[in-house]
Amino acid sequence: MEKRFDEGFDNILIYHYDEEYQNGKRLDADTMVTDIGRKALSLNGKWHFCPDTFCSVIRTRWFDETRYNRNGLPLPYDYDFEKWEEITVPGVWNNQKREYALYEGAGLYFRTFSLEDLRKEKLIQKHGGRLFLRIGAANYETRIWLNKHYLGRHLGGFTPFCADVTDYLSEENRLLIFVDNTRRGEQIPSVHYDWFNYGGIFREVELFETPDVYIQNTFIQLSRQTAGKIEYRIRVRASAGPNKTNHIPVQIEIPKLGIVYKDDCCITQDLPADTLEAAGTIDADEEKIEKWSPDNPVLYQVIVRTMGSHSDIVEEEIGFRRIETKGQHILLNGQEVFLKGMCVHEESLQSLRCVTKQEIENMIMQVKEMGCNFLRLTHYPHSEWVARIADRLGIMLLEEIPVYWALEFENPNTYRDACNQLSELIIRDRNRASVILWSVGNENPDSDERYHFMKNLVKTARKLDPSRLIIASCLIDVDQKRIKDRLIEALDVVGINEYYGWYLKDFEVLEEILGNYHEDKPIIITETGADAVSGYFSENAEIYSEELQARIYEKQFNTLLKYPFIKGITPWVLYDYASMRRMSSLQNGYNIKGIIGKDRIYKKKAYYVVKKVYG
Ligand code: GCU
Repeated sequence: MEKRFDEGFDNILIYHYDEEYQNGKRLDADTMVTDIGRKALSLNGKWHFCPDTFCSVIRTRWFDETRYNRNGLPLPYDYDFEKWEEITVPGVWNNQKREYALYEGAGLYFRTFSLEDLRKEKLIQKHGGRLFLRIGAANYETRIWLNKHYLGRHLGGFTPFCADVTDYLSEENRLLIFVDNTRRGEQIPSVHYDWFNYGGIFREVELFETPDVYIQNTFIQLSRQTAGKIEYRIRVRASAGPNKTNHIPVQIEIPKLGIVYKDDCCITQDLPADTLEAAGTIDADEEKIEKWSPDNPVLYQVIVRTMGSHSDIVEEEIGFRRIETKGQHILLNGQEVFLKGMCVHEESLQSLRCVTKQEIENMIMQVKEMGCNFLRLTHYPHSEWVARIADRLGIMLLEEIPVYWALEFENPNTYRDACNQLSELIIRDRNRASVILWSVGNENPDSDERYHFMKNLVKTARKLDPSRLIIASCLIDVDQKRIKDRLIEALDVVGINEYYGWYLKDFEVLEEILGNYHEDKPIIITETGADAVSGYFSENAEIYSEELQARIYEKQFNTLLKYPFIKGITPWVLYDYASMRRMSSLQNGYNIKGIIGKDRIYKKKAYYVVKKVYG
C-alpha cells in the first residue's frame, strides 16, 4: 500500500475507510442530556465552512491537522479551516451562498472557543463536573471532532444530540463538525419525499455544564391511568469513576402545589451502564391543580434536584393535563374535545427550515386567530421551541418522526435509526403539555416488515411516555372502500389522509369508506386538501384556482363533520412550502396546497372556509 505522507498512511486506498467512524461512538438518545433550565455558552454565530463532498476529513485525515513531519519539515495539506468562508449557525446552508442553494452532500464546519469564554460564563466547576456540547439538529449525519479527538456520530436530521467534551478540553479548543445531508435508501426519511432537503446545522449549538453526577432527563406528567397521581421518572448518570454509587437521592418540588417529594435513583437491570433511575407516582390533589388547556395554558414551576454536595438542578415549567380516549371519543381533562387543526411544515421564506422563535410565535397566534386548537407538525420533529411556545400560548400538538412513504422496513439499521429518532423526540418533549399525540409514521405501504417495524415503534413510544396517545396516518383500501391497516390495533387514534375532490374525484367513495368504519377508536383526518395558486381566481373554479380549493374544503368539512367518530381534522397544509417534486410551471418547486401562501401572509379563499368552520 502506498505511503503518501511520511507521518503515516492516509485512507485513500482503503475502501472501507470510515468503518471506525461508522460503527464507533454513537451519539443517540442514550447520550442525550437535558439542557432545560441550564446555563449554557452559545456557540451560535459565524463558523468557517467548506463543502466536503468526498469526506476528505476522514479519507485524508484532515481532522489530524498534521502540518509538519517529525523533523519539522512542512507537509502539503488540502484544507484551511480558519481561512474558509464564514457561514451562520444555526442556519441551513441553502440560502447562505448561491452555489449551495440546491447542494445535497457533506460540509465541514469549524470554529474555536477558549476556556476563558467558559470561565467568564462560570461554566467550569472547581470540583470537576462535565461539559456537554449540544446540537439542536443537523441534517442528516453528523460526526464531531474536538481537538483532533473523535467524539462520535449522530444520525437523523431533526432531533438534538449531545457529546461529552470534558476529557478533550484544552485552553484553546478546535471544534470540527461534519454534516452530510445526502439522501440514502436506509435513512429516515428515505430518498423520496415531498419536502425540501435543506442541509447544515440549523438549530442552536451550545455548551453546558453539569456536576459529575447529573440529571440526564426527566418525565413528569399527570398520570393518564390513575386520577390524583403525578407520574415521574428521573434518570441520573454517574459517569465519573470516583463518584460511582448505586443510589442517589433526588427531590421533586412543585412549589405552587406544595409538593416536595423525595426518592432514590437506583441501578436496575435494564438501564445502560452508570445510569440510575427513580420512577413512581406522587399523590396530588387534582382539585388544587389548575389544568393546562389551550384556553388556560397554566404552567407550574417544577424543580428536580439530586441531593448531596454537588447537587444538580433541572428547573422547568410544566403544564398538567390529561389526554385520553374513551371509545371513539378524545377527552382533554375529562371533557370531549374536537381537534380543530392544520398540518404545517417547518419553513419560512426568510429562514427556510431554521425558523425563529418569533416566526413560531407568529404562526401559533395566526392559527389561534383562525380558531385552531391543534397543529400537526409534519413530517419530522420541528424545533423544540414550538412545543415550549405552544405550552405558553395554548395550542395542542401532534409530533411526528419522518417514517414517511417507502422505507427499508426490513433493514435493522433503519429500524434502529427510526427508534432512536423517536426516542430523542419523546425524551426532548415529553414534559410539554401541548404535545398530546406522537405519530409513528405517515402513509407507509403495507407489508409484514412495515407492520412489525411500526408496531415496535408504538411499543417504544408507550415505554418512554405512558401519558400520551399514539397515532399514525394509516392506509385506505380504495378498492374495498374501507380503512384497512393492521397497525390500527396498536394505535389509540387512527389517522387518515384522503384527497377526495383533488387526487380522487369521486367524492361519494369517501362516504362509503367512512360508512364502513366500525373500529372503537376515534379518527383524525390527518390530511385533506387541494392545490391553489395564490391570486389565481376563476369563476368556474378551474383546477389550481383558489375557488376550487375553497370548494373542496367546503365539501370536505360538510362530509367529515357528519361522522361522529371523526374527532379532529388537520387539512394539508397551512403554508405553501418548497418541494423538489413539484415542478410544474404553476408550482415552481412548491407544494401549493397551503391555505396561506409561502410568505405566511397571503390568505387564499380556503383560509376563510377553515376560519368559518373553526372560528
Ligand atoms: C401526502 C403526504 C404529504 C404530501 C401530500 C400532497 O399525502 O402525506 O406529505 O405532501 O400528500 O400530495 O401534497
